[in-house]
Amino acid sequence: MSDIRLDNITAAAVASFDGVPDARRRELLQQLVQHLHAYAKATRLTHDEWRAALAFLHRAGDISSANRSEFSLLSDVLGLSSLVDLLASTPGATPGSVLGPFHTVGSPWCENPADLTRDNPGEVVLLRGRVHGPQGQPLSDATLDFWQNAANGLYWQMDDSQPPDNLRCQLKVDAAGRFAIRTIRPQPYQIPTDGPAWHDVVPSAGRSAWRPAHYHLIVQAPAHRTLVTELFDAADPYLASDAVFGVRAALVRRYETTPDADVPVMDIDIVLAAA
Ligand SMILES: [Fe+2]
Repeated sequence: MSDIRLDNITAAAVASFDGVPDARRRELLQQLVQHLHAYAKATRLTHDEWRAALAFLHRAGDISSANRSEFSLLSDVLGLSSLVDLLASTPGATPGSVLGPFHTVGSPWCENPADLTRDNPGEVVLLRGRVHGPQGQPLSDATLDFWQNAANGLYWQMDDSQPPDNLRCQLKVDAAGRFAIRTIRPQPYQIPTDGPAWHDVVPSAGRSAWRPAHYHLIVQAPAHRTLVTELFDAADPYLASDAVFGVRAALVRRYETTPDADVPVMDIDIVLAAA
């Protein structure tokens, strides 16, 4: 006879997954049950609150589509996405930061140095840097996948006036691991606030929905860990209040005037960890 009580329900629910064959999957499920139960016990979760949480998840599902994941946004505003990035970062390597919802697989390959300015309005700037391995050696076979928003704060997916390949590219670094992208200065923008992930969760905390201006980068090289990260503008007013917790000191750079460039330059050394 089973006798499920407050003092044994968690152990029973955890044990119900003992038969999951894959050890990692079993660990993930059993830890999830333990932490969910601990949360409910610690907060003395009520029926009304539990029903409200389920209704919230329904609303998040309803607004999600092929072009919008409200659950990703929820993960972002709770700091979970950024926590996973930090867990995957390697000491000594450039830290990871949020992939975000605007990455497009298969951006056009560009010459290096690249010029993405086209007829985009905005301040023309140069992003340049070098890709190294953990011992400082140049990674001459590294590739970059790059994307950013336009002067109006919008990514191409949000803006019918931009061509689909606007302000994004892939390129190969040169023999010394160097790259340069002539582009326009990205702008801060607000994450979507019209869905439940923001609307039902965050506003009462008085938080800002703004993300500080940034470039997105995916840096890959054979035998090294792929880096998904962002680079931030040191002059941005929202650095201290990024809505999705993506800012790391090592990723904040100032635009500098240098004699060898006709526009302000942001310079970055990128270090990839060994695979
Ligand atoms: Fe972004």
